[in-house]
Amino acid sequence: MYTLARELLFKLSPETSHELSIDLIGAGGRLGLNKLLTKQPLSLPVSVMGLEFPNPVGLAAGLDKNGDAIDGFSQLGFGFVEIGTVTPRPQPGNPKPRLFRLPEAEGVINRMGFNNYGVDHLLARVKAAKYKGVLGINIGKNFDTPVENAVDDYLLCLDKVYQHASYVTVNVSSPNTPGLRSLQFGDSLKQLLEALHRRQEDLTEQYGKRVPLAIKIAPDMSDEETIQVANALLNAEMDAVIATNTTLSRDGVEGLEYATEAGGLSGAPVRDKSTHIVRVLSEELKGRMPIIAVGGITEGKHAAEKIQAGASLVQIYSGFIYKGPALIREAVDAIAALPK
Ligand SMILES: Cc1cc2nc3c(=O)[nH]c(=O)nc-3n(C[C@H](O)[C@H](O)[C@H](O)COP(=O)(O)O)c2cc1C
Repeated sequence: MYTLARELLFKLSPETSHELSIDLIGAGGRLGLNKLLTKQPLSLPVSVMGLEFPNPVGLAAGLDKNGDAIDGFSQLGFGFVEIGTVTPRPQPGNPKPRLFRLPEAEGVINRMGFNNYGVDHLLARVKAAKYKGVLGINIGKNFDTPVENAVDDYLLCLDKVYQHASYVTVNVSSPNTPGLRSLQFGDSLKQLLEALHRRQEDLTEQYGKRVPLAIKIAPDMSDEETIQVANALLNAEMDAVIATNTTLSRDGVEGLEYATEAGGLSGAPVRDKSTHIVRVLSEELKGRMPIIAVGGITEGKHAAEKIQAGASLVQIYSGFIYKGPALIREAVDAIAALPK
């Protein structure tokens, strides 16, 4: 059925089709239709970060930035749903067009720039949702907050979302907010992580509940940089790492229409880069911190590859655009078929 829907959706501009899909998935969720229309995945429970997941395949951040379709996405069979990136204040993002499909490569280029309605809107949507499963809330900084003050934006968002999230993701890896990726390195990273960890401890005491913190990183790092990040995350007692966000590289899409558009590239072209980062992280972390793998899962077997590379959970974004909800079940099946 998705093949037909995709044919229609791909006739629209990528952003119009994105908005329409969120509306349809949201409406299907409210009417309880999505569960009826999709073949639900196997039950494949896993426990990660102290949380119980019905299956290890989640929705990646950025598809439901405002939390408008939480029930709808969960009913498609995702084992967990991550919403955001949300910023303290609403912001429009970059001028359109800012989203491009590269179908020949099963790729997407975006320079959305954290368009979102702000953290208060997102919280209202979370409170209105019926979903009781694992909900990640991904936080970022406003584009006009100087990068030296980024920590204030993250702490403000953390304070607000803390008691409503199963886990919180700190996004320091979007390529579309100037300066953001510099927070992944050296003293900037150390200071940010220390501030987040201190606040997490205060909030744990205040609410009597420890909400895990995950840090989402970029694929555009050398092995040495990846190892440094892994150790910084361990030292700061973070709870998980999400690898990866989109890439600035254009390997594998050279010469294709839109390949030279500015922004982050996702989908099949980022797959191997992203899996490599998971492997390097896993060798360094040696099971001391769980890895959530995302990047280029367009078939079930790619999800299984991420688990074999050392991930405990996976997430999907671009593959969902190209393959639709059937990919969720396919990914769960492929993971279930791995030797124990
Ligand atoms: C249009 C678009 C918007 C995105 N927005 C966000 C975002 O707001 N926050 C974030 O952490 N990642 C965002 N991402 C990155 C995805 O969550 C994911 O890390 C990346 O696309 C790689 O996975 P994929 O190949 O399955 O798409 C976005 C990706 C796309 C394609």
